[in-house]
Amino acid sequence: MSILIRGARLRRLDGLYDVLIEDGKIAEVSTSIKRGADETIDAGGRLLTPSFSDMHFHLDSALTLGDPRYNESGTLIEGIEIWAEKKRGITVEDVKNRAIRAVKMMVSYGTTRLRTHADITEPRLATLKGLLEVKKEMKPLIDIQVTAFPQDGILTEPGNAELLEKAVEMGADNVGIIPHYELTREDGVKSISVAFDIAQKYGRDVDGHVDETDDEQSRFLEVVAAEAIRRGYEGRVTAGHATAMHSYNDAYAYKLYRILRRAGVTVIANPLINIHLQGRFDTYPKRRGMTRIKELLKHGVNVALGHDCIRDPWYPLGRGDMVQALFMAVHVGHLMGYQELRDSFDLITVNAARALRIESEYGVERGKRADLVLLDARDELEALALQRPPLLVIKEGRIIVRRSNAEAEIVVDGKKERLEFV
Ligand code: FE2
Repeated sequence: MSILIRGARLRRLDGLYDVLIEDGKIAEVSTSIKRGADETIDAGGRLLTPSFSDMHFHLDSALTLGDPRYNESGTLIEGIEIWAEKKRGITVEDVKNRAIRAVKMMVSYGTTRLRTHADITEPRLATLKGLLEVKKEMKPLIDIQVTAFPQDGILTEPGNAELLEKAVEMGADNVGIIPHYELTREDGVKSISVAFDIAQKYGRDVDGHVDETDDEQSRFLEVVAAEAIRRGYEGRVTAGHATAMHSYNDAYAYKLYRILRRAGVTVIANPLINIHLQGRFDTYPKRRGMTRIKELLKHGVNVALGHDCIRDPWYPLGRGDMVQALFMAVHVGHLMGYQELRDSFDLITVNAARALRIESEYGVERGKRADLVLLDARDELEALALQRPPLLVIKEGRIIVRRSNAEAEIVVDGKKERLEFV
Protein backbone atom coordinates (compact mmCIF):
# COMPACT_ATOMS: atom_id res chain seq x y z
CA MET A 1 0.00 0.00 0.00
CA SER A 2 1.42 3.37 -1.02
CA ILE A 3 0.00 6.81 -0.23
CA LEU A 4 0.90 10.10 -1.84
CA ILE A 5 0.06 13.26 0.10
CA ARG A 6 0.22 16.27 -2.18
CA GLY A 7 0.61 19.93 -1.28
CA ALA A 8 1.26 19.71 2.47
CA ARG A 9 3.01 22.24 4.65
CA LEU A 10 5.80 20.83 6.78
CA ARG A 11 7.07 22.31 10.02
CA ARG A 12 9.94 24.80 9.70
CA LEU A 13 9.91 24.68 5.88
CA ASP A 14 8.51 27.22 3.42
CA GLY A 15 6.28 26.20 0.51
CA LEU A 16 4.32 23.04 -0.14
CA TYR A 17 5.61 19.46 -0.27
CA ASP A 18 4.53 16.08 -1.56
CA VAL A 19 5.16 13.10 0.70
CA LEU A 20 5.21 9.55 -0.63
CA ILE A 21 4.66 6.68 1.79
CA GLU A 22 5.60 3.11 0.86
CA ASP A 23 5.91 -0.04 2.96
CA GLY A 24 5.26 1.81 6.20
CA LYS A 25 8.04 4.33 5.62
CA ILE A 26 8.45 7.73 4.05
CA ALA A 27 9.88 7.01 0.59
CA GLU A 28 10.23 10.56 -0.69
CA VAL A 29 9.67 14.18 0.34
CA SER A 30 9.95 16.83 -2.34
CA THR A 31 8.18 19.83 -3.87
CA SER A 32 6.89 17.69 -6.72
CA ILE A 33 6.75 13.89 -6.79
CA LYS A 34 6.13 12.45 -10.26
CA ARG A 35 5.40 8.87 -9.22
CA GLY A 36 1.83 7.73 -8.50
CA ALA A 37 0.52 5.77 -5.53
CA ASP A 38 -2.37 3.48 -4.58
CA GLU A 39 -4.05 6.47 -2.93
CA THR A 40 -3.45 10.17 -3.51
CA ILE A 41 -4.60 12.74 -0.95
CA ASP A 42 -4.71 16.48 -1.57
CA ALA A 43 -3.55 18.20 1.64
CA GLY A 44 -4.64 21.60 0.34
CA GLY A 45 -1.79 23.43 2.05
CA ARG A 46 -2.51 21.95 5.46
CA LEU A 47 0.13 21.05 8.02
CA LEU A 48 1.51 17.50 8.01
CA THR A 49 3.43 16.69 11.21
CA PRO A 50 4.85 13.57 12.78
CA SER A 51 2.14 12.04 14.96
CA PHE A 52 1.90 13.10 18.60
CA SER A 53 3.24 11.46 21.73
CA ASP A 54 1.57 11.53 25.12
CA MET A 55 4.39 10.98 27.58
CA HIS A 56 2.41 10.67 30.81
CA PHE A 57 -1.01 9.14 31.14
CA HIS A 58 -3.11 6.99 33.48
CA LEU A 59 -5.06 4.56 31.31
CA ASP A 60 -6.11 2.44 34.30
CA SER A 61 -8.25 5.21 35.83
CA ALA A 62 -9.42 6.78 32.54
CA LEU A 63 -13.17 7.33 32.16
CA THR A 64 -14.05 6.39 35.75
CA LEU A 65 -15.44 9.86 36.51
CA GLY A 66 -18.06 9.63 39.30
CA ASP A 67 -17.26 5.96 40.04
CA PRO A 68 -17.48 5.53 42.98
CA ARG A 69 -17.87 9.30 43.53
CA TYR A 70 -16.89 12.74 42.25
CA ASN A 71 -13.90 14.71 43.50
CA GLU A 72 -15.56 17.71 45.11
CA SER A 73 -12.45 19.39 46.56
CA GLY A 74 -10.48 19.27 43.31
CA THR A 75 -7.38 18.15 45.19
CA LEU A 76 -4.82 15.52 44.25
CA ILE A 77 -5.27 13.88 47.65
CA GLU A 78 -9.05 13.44 47.30
CA GLY A 79 -8.37 11.99 43.86
CA ILE A 80 -6.00 9.41 45.36
CA GLU A 81 -8.61 8.52 48.01
CA ILE A 82 -11.36 8.01 45.41
CA TRP A 83 -9.04 5.91 43.26
CA ALA A 84 -8.14 3.78 46.32
CA GLU A 85 -11.87 2.99 46.72
CA LYS A 86 -12.31 2.26 43.02
CA LYS A 87 -9.29 0.01 42.64
CA ARG A 88 -10.25 -2.30 45.51
CA GLY A 89 -12.64 -4.28 43.35
CA ILE A 90 -11.21 -3.45 39.95
CA THR A 91 -11.13 -6.16 37.28
CA VAL A 92 -8.93 -6.73 34.25
CA GLU A 93 -12.00 -6.46 31.99
CA ASP A 94 -13.06 -3.11 33.47
CA VAL A 95 -9.54 -1.70 33.00
CA LYS A 96 -9.35 -2.98 29.44
CA ASN A 97 -12.76 -1.71 28.33
CA ARG A 98 -12.13 1.81 29.55
CA ALA A 99 -8.50 1.90 28.40
CA ILE A 100 -9.42 0.83 24.87
CA ARG A 101 -12.10 3.52 24.65
CA ALA A 102 -9.62 6.14 25.88
CA VAL A 103 -6.91 4.94 23.50
CA LYS A 104 -9.23 5.23 20.50
CA MET A 105 -10.12 8.78 21.48
CA MET A 106 -6.43 9.69 21.75
CA VAL A 107 -5.58 8.08 18.43
CA SER A 108 -8.42 9.98 16.73
CA TYR A 109 -6.70 13.19 17.90
CA GLY A 110 -3.34 12.19 16.44
CA THR A 111 -1.49 10.42 19.29
CA THR A 112 0.21 7.20 18.23
CA ARG A 113 2.75 6.91 21.06
CA LEU A 114 1.76 6.71 24.69
CA ARG A 115 3.42 6.13 28.01
CA THR A 116 0.84 5.00 30.52
CA HIS A 117 1.18 4.33 34.22
CA ALA A 118 -0.31 1.18 35.73
CA ASP A 119 -0.90 1.43 39.46
CA ILE A 120 0.97 -1.55 40.90
CA THR A 121 0.04 -0.87 44.52
CA GLU A 122 -3.22 -2.70 43.73
CA PRO A 123 -1.96 -6.07 44.98
CA ARG A 124 -3.75 -8.29 42.44
CA LEU A 125 -2.06 -6.25 39.69
CA ALA A 126 -5.32 -6.23 37.70
CA THR A 127 -4.48 -2.78 36.32
CA LEU A 128 -1.09 -3.94 35.05
CA LYS A 129 -2.48 -7.14 33.53
CA GLY A 130 -5.23 -5.18 31.78
CA LEU A 131 -2.88 -2.55 30.39
CA LEU A 132 -0.33 -5.11 29.16
CA GLU A 133 -3.15 -6.73 27.17
CA VAL A 134 -4.29 -3.34 25.85
CA LYS A 135 -0.71 -2.63 24.76
CA LYS A 136 -0.70 -5.79 22.67
CA GLU A 137 -4.23 -5.48 21.27
CA MET A 138 -3.95 -1.80 20.35
CA LYS A 139 -0.56 -2.14 18.67
CA PRO A 140 -2.03 -1.50 15.18
CA LEU A 141 -3.20 1.92 16.44
CA ILE A 142 -0.67 3.03 19.03
CA ASP A 143 2.71 2.13 20.53
CA ILE A 144 2.21 1.92 24.27
CA GLN A 145 4.80 1.71 27.03
CA VAL A 146 3.53 0.69 30.46
CA THR A 147 5.21 2.15 33.54
CA ALA A 148 4.92 0.27 36.83
CA PHE A 149 3.60 3.09 39.00
CA PRO A 150 3.64 2.80 42.80
CA GLN A 151 0.69 5.16 43.37
CA ASP A 152 0.60 4.63 47.16
CA GLY A 153 4.39 4.79 47.57
CA ILE A 154 7.20 2.22 47.49
CA LEU A 155 8.04 2.27 51.21
CA THR A 156 4.66 3.28 52.68
CA GLU A 157 3.47 -0.34 52.97
CA PRO A 158 5.45 -3.56 53.31
CA GLY A 159 5.31 -5.43 50.02
CA ASN A 160 5.03 -2.46 47.64
CA ALA A 161 8.69 -2.68 46.58
CA GLU A 162 8.16 -6.39 45.81
CA LEU A 163 5.04 -5.52 43.77
CA LEU A 164 7.10 -3.00 41.82
CA GLU A 165 9.70 -5.63 40.94
CA LYS A 166 7.03 -8.23 40.16
CA ALA A 167 5.35 -5.77 37.77
CA VAL A 168 8.62 -5.37 35.89
CA GLU A 169 9.05 -9.15 35.76
CA MET A 170 5.53 -9.38 34.30
CA GLY A 171 6.47 -7.03 31.46
CA ALA A 172 6.20 -3.40 32.58
CA ASP A 173 8.45 -1.28 30.37
CA ASN A 174 9.54 1.36 32.90
CA VAL A 175 9.94 1.72 36.65
CA GLY A 176 7.95 4.43 38.42
CA ILE A 177 8.49 6.44 41.60
CA ILE A 178 6.50 8.91 43.69
CA PRO A 179 9.04 10.16 46.25
CA HIS A 180 7.04 13.19 47.42
CA TYR A 181 4.26 10.82 48.56
CA GLU A 182 6.50 8.64 50.75
CA LEU A 183 6.18 9.13 54.53
CA THR A 184 9.37 11.12 55.04
CA ARG A 185 12.00 12.95 53.05
CA GLU A 186 14.43 10.11 53.84
CA ASP A 187 11.97 7.48 52.60
CA GLY A 188 11.53 9.52 49.42
CA VAL A 189 15.28 9.46 48.79
CA LYS A 190 15.47 5.75 49.59
CA SER A 191 12.49 4.96 47.30
CA ILE A 192 14.36 6.51 44.37
CA SER A 193 17.31 4.24 45.06
CA VAL A 194 15.03 1.17 45.27
CA ALA A 195 13.44 2.04 41.91
CA PHE A 196 16.82 2.60 40.21
CA ASP A 197 18.05 -0.76 41.59
CA ILE A 198 15.08 -2.50 39.93
CA ALA A 199 15.50 -0.49 36.72
CA GLN A 200 19.18 -1.40 36.49
CA LYS A 201 18.60 -5.06 37.32
CA TYR A 202 16.06 -5.44 34.48
CA GLY A 203 17.47 -2.85 32.07
CA ARG A 204 14.41 -0.58 32.23
CA ASP A 205 14.05 3.21 32.10
CA VAL A 206 12.84 5.25 35.07
CA ASP A 207 9.60 7.20 34.56
CA GLY A 208 8.54 8.99 37.70
CA HIS A 209 6.03 11.22 39.33
CA VAL A 210 8.39 13.71 40.94
CA ASP A 211 7.57 16.68 43.19
CA GLU A 212 3.90 16.89 42.17
CA THR A 213 3.13 19.43 44.87
CA ASP A 214 3.26 23.18 45.52
CA ASP A 215 5.64 22.53 48.43
CA GLU A 216 8.85 24.41 47.59
CA GLN A 217 10.64 22.08 50.06
CA SER A 218 9.94 19.07 47.86
CA ARG A 219 13.30 18.57 46.16
CA PHE A 220 13.43 15.03 44.86
CA LEU A 221 14.18 15.99 41.28
CA GLU A 222 17.83 16.70 42.20
CA VAL A 223 18.06 13.25 43.81
CA VAL A 224 16.62 11.64 40.67
CA ALA A 225 19.10 13.51 38.46
CA ALA A 226 22.02 12.59 40.74
CA GLU A 227 21.06 8.90 40.63
CA ALA A 228 20.85 9.08 36.82
CA ILE A 229 24.37 10.53 36.68
CA ARG A 230 25.89 8.10 39.19
CA ARG A 231 24.34 5.01 37.60
CA GLY A 232 25.08 5.94 33.98
CA TYR A 233 21.37 6.46 33.32
CA GLU A 234 21.78 9.71 31.41
CA GLY A 235 18.95 10.09 28.88
CA ARG A 236 16.94 7.23 30.40
CA VAL A 237 14.90 9.10 33.01
CA THR A 238 11.69 11.10 32.75
CA ALA A 239 10.28 13.15 35.61
CA GLY A 240 6.55 13.81 35.41
CA HIS A 241 4.88 16.93 36.82
CA ALA A 242 7.81 18.54 38.77
CA THR A 243 5.31 21.21 39.79
CA ALA A 244 7.24 22.19 42.94
CA MET A 245 9.76 23.78 40.56
CA HIS A 246 7.18 26.50 40.02
CA SER A 247 7.74 27.52 43.64
CA TYR A 248 11.52 27.14 43.95
CA ASN A 249 13.67 30.23 44.33
CA ASP A 250 15.50 31.17 41.15
CA ALA A 251 18.97 30.39 42.51
CA TYR A 252 17.96 26.82 43.33
CA ALA A 253 16.09 26.42 40.04
CA TYR A 254 19.26 27.52 38.22
CA LYS A 255 21.27 24.82 39.95
CA LEU A 256 18.62 22.30 39.02
CA TYR A 257 18.62 23.19 35.31
CA ARG A 258 22.34 22.43 35.24
CA ILE A 259 22.12 18.98 36.80
CA LEU A 260 18.98 18.03 34.86
CA ARG A 261 20.77 18.87 31.63
CA ARG A 262 23.83 16.88 32.67
CA ALA A 263 21.65 13.90 33.68
CA GLY A 264 19.67 14.07 30.44
CA VAL A 265 16.42 13.98 32.44
CA THR A 266 13.31 14.83 30.42
CA VAL A 267 10.74 16.80 32.40
CA ILE A 268 7.13 15.99 31.51
CA ALA A 269 4.63 18.75 32.21
CA ASN A 270 0.95 17.86 32.44
CA PRO A 271 -0.60 21.29 31.96
CA LEU A 272 -4.30 20.36 32.09
CA ILE A 273 -3.97 18.55 35.37
CA ASN A 274 -1.31 20.81 36.90
CA ILE A 275 -3.39 23.96 36.49
CA HIS A 276 -6.39 22.13 37.96
CA LEU A 277 -4.80 20.34 40.95
CA GLN A 278 -2.04 22.72 42.02
CA GLY A 279 -2.54 25.99 43.86
CA ARG A 280 -5.38 24.38 45.83
CA PHE A 281 -4.00 25.42 49.22
CA ASP A 282 -3.35 29.01 48.15
CA THR A 283 -5.73 31.87 48.75
CA TYR A 284 -4.59 34.80 46.57
CA PRO A 285 -2.43 35.18 44.62
CA LYS A 286 -2.76 31.56 43.45
CA ARG A 287 0.22 29.84 41.95
CA ARG A 288 -0.03 28.32 38.49
CA GLY A 289 1.65 25.11 39.60
CA MET A 290 3.11 24.07 36.26
CA THR A 291 6.81 23.34 35.92
CA ARG A 292 9.06 25.94 34.26
CA ILE A 293 8.83 24.81 30.64
CA LYS A 294 10.26 27.98 29.13
CA GLU A 295 13.27 28.19 31.42
CA LEU A 296 14.03 24.46 31.25
CA LEU A 297 14.09 24.62 27.44
CA LYS A 298 16.24 27.73 27.52
CA HIS A 299 18.78 25.91 29.70
CA GLY A 300 18.93 22.89 27.41
CA VAL A 301 16.69 20.54 29.39
CA ASN A 302 14.36 18.38 27.32
CA VAL A 303 10.65 18.93 28.05
CA ALA A 304 7.65 17.04 26.69
CA LEU A 305 3.96 16.91 27.61
CA GLY A 306 1.46 14.44 28.98
CA HIS A 307 -2.32 14.56 29.07
CA ASP A 308 -2.18 12.67 32.41
CA CYS A 309 -5.90 11.95 32.90
CA ILE A 310 -9.23 11.88 31.10
CA ARG A 311 -12.44 12.08 33.14
CA ASP A 312 -11.23 10.32 36.25
CA PRO A 313 -10.85 11.14 39.99
CA TRP A 314 -8.16 13.72 39.22
CA TYR A 315 -9.46 15.45 36.11
CA PRO A 316 -13.16 15.68 35.20
CA LEU A 317 -12.71 16.80 31.59
CA GLY A 318 -10.60 15.93 28.55
CA ARG A 319 -10.89 14.16 25.21
CA GLY A 320 -7.34 12.84 24.76
CA ASP A 321 -6.24 15.69 22.53
CA MET A 322 -2.57 16.64 22.92
CA VAL A 323 -3.16 19.92 21.07
CA GLN A 324 -5.59 20.85 23.84
CA ALA A 325 -2.94 19.99 26.45
CA LEU A 326 -0.46 22.11 24.48
CA PHE A 327 -2.99 24.97 24.31
CA MET A 328 -3.06 25.01 28.13
CA ALA A 329 0.75 24.75 28.33
CA VAL A 330 1.40 27.77 26.12
CA HIS A 331 -1.04 29.87 28.14
CA VAL A 332 0.13 28.86 31.60
CA GLY A 333 3.81 28.88 30.60
CA HIS A 334 3.77 32.25 28.79
CA LEU A 335 4.86 30.59 25.56
CA MET A 336 2.72 32.80 23.35
CA GLY A 337 5.35 34.70 21.36
CA TYR A 338 4.98 34.01 17.63
CA GLN A 339 8.10 31.85 17.40
CA GLU A 340 7.34 30.22 20.75
CA LEU A 341 3.94 29.12 19.43
CA ARG A 342 5.53 27.75 16.25
CA ASP A 343 8.15 25.88 18.31
CA SER A 344 5.67 24.68 20.93
CA PHE A 345 4.70 21.66 18.82
CA ASP A 346 8.14 20.23 19.67
CA LEU A 347 6.69 19.50 23.13
CA ILE A 348 4.27 16.90 21.74
CA THR A 349 6.46 15.65 18.89
CA VAL A 350 10.28 15.65 18.66
CA ASN A 351 11.02 16.26 22.33
CA ALA A 352 9.01 13.18 23.23
CA ALA A 353 10.84 11.22 20.52
CA ARG A 354 14.12 12.30 22.14
CA ALA A 355 12.94 11.04 25.53
CA LEU A 356 11.90 7.74 23.96
CA ARG A 357 15.23 7.57 22.06
CA ILE A 358 13.47 7.02 18.72
CA GLU A 359 14.72 10.13 16.91
CA SER A 360 16.34 8.03 14.19
CA GLU A 361 12.92 6.76 13.05
CA TYR A 362 10.85 9.86 13.80
CA GLY A 363 10.05 12.82 11.53
CA VAL A 364 8.77 13.75 8.08
CA GLU A 365 11.94 12.69 6.26
CA ARG A 366 12.89 10.01 3.78
CA GLY A 367 13.45 6.63 5.41
CA LYS A 368 11.63 7.43 8.64
CA ARG A 369 8.57 5.59 9.88
CA ALA A 370 5.36 6.97 8.38
CA ASP A 371 3.63 8.00 11.63
CA LEU A 372 1.91 11.19 10.56
CA VAL A 373 -0.95 13.55 11.27
CA LEU A 374 -2.60 15.80 8.70
CA LEU A 375 -4.03 18.70 10.66
CA ASP A 376 -6.99 20.83 9.55
CA ALA A 377 -4.83 23.95 9.82
CA ARG A 378 -2.03 25.54 7.82
CA ASP A 379 0.43 26.02 10.66
CA GLU A 380 0.96 25.54 14.37
CA LEU A 381 -0.82 28.78 15.31
CA GLU A 382 -3.96 27.85 13.42
CA ALA A 383 -3.85 24.35 14.88
CA LEU A 384 -3.76 25.82 18.40
CA ALA A 385 -6.34 28.51 17.66
CA LEU A 386 -8.87 26.15 16.08
CA GLN A 387 -8.07 22.84 17.85
CA ARG A 388 -9.76 20.90 15.10
CA PRO A 389 -9.38 17.14 15.12
CA PRO A 390 -6.92 15.91 12.48
CA LEU A 391 -8.13 14.90 9.03
CA LEU A 392 -5.78 11.94 8.82
CA VAL A 393 -3.80 9.88 11.28
CA ILE A 394 -1.28 7.47 9.78
CA LYS A 395 0.62 4.79 11.67
CA GLU A 396 3.41 2.83 10.00
CA GLY A 397 2.07 3.79 6.59
CA ARG A 398 -1.57 2.83 7.27
CA ILE A 399 -4.40 5.36 7.52
CA ILE A 400 -5.98 4.61 10.89
CA VAL A 401 -8.19 7.73 11.21
CA ARG A 402 -9.94 9.62 8.43
CA ARG A 403 -12.20 12.65 8.82
CA SER A 404 -13.83 15.15 6.52
CA ASN A 405 -13.04 18.70 7.54
CA ALA A 406 -15.30 20.47 9.98
CA GLU A 407 -16.58 23.33 7.86
CA ALA A 408 -19.66 25.10 9.14
CA GLU A 409 -22.48 26.87 7.40
CA ILE A 410 -24.10 29.97 8.85
CA VAL A 411 -27.42 31.33 7.68
CA VAL A 412 -27.73 35.14 7.55
CA ASP A 413 -31.17 36.44 6.50
CA GLY A 414 -31.93 33.17 4.73
CA LYS A 415 -28.61 33.26 2.87
CA LYS A 416 -26.12 30.46 3.50
CA GLU A 417 -22.48 31.35 4.04
CA ARG A 418 -19.60 28.95 4.48
CA LEU A 419 -17.57 29.89 7.55
CA GLU A 420 -13.85 30.07 6.95
CA PHE A 421 -11.73 29.66 10.06
CA VAL A 422 -8.47 28.84 8.29
FE1 FE2 B 1 0.31 11.28 36.71
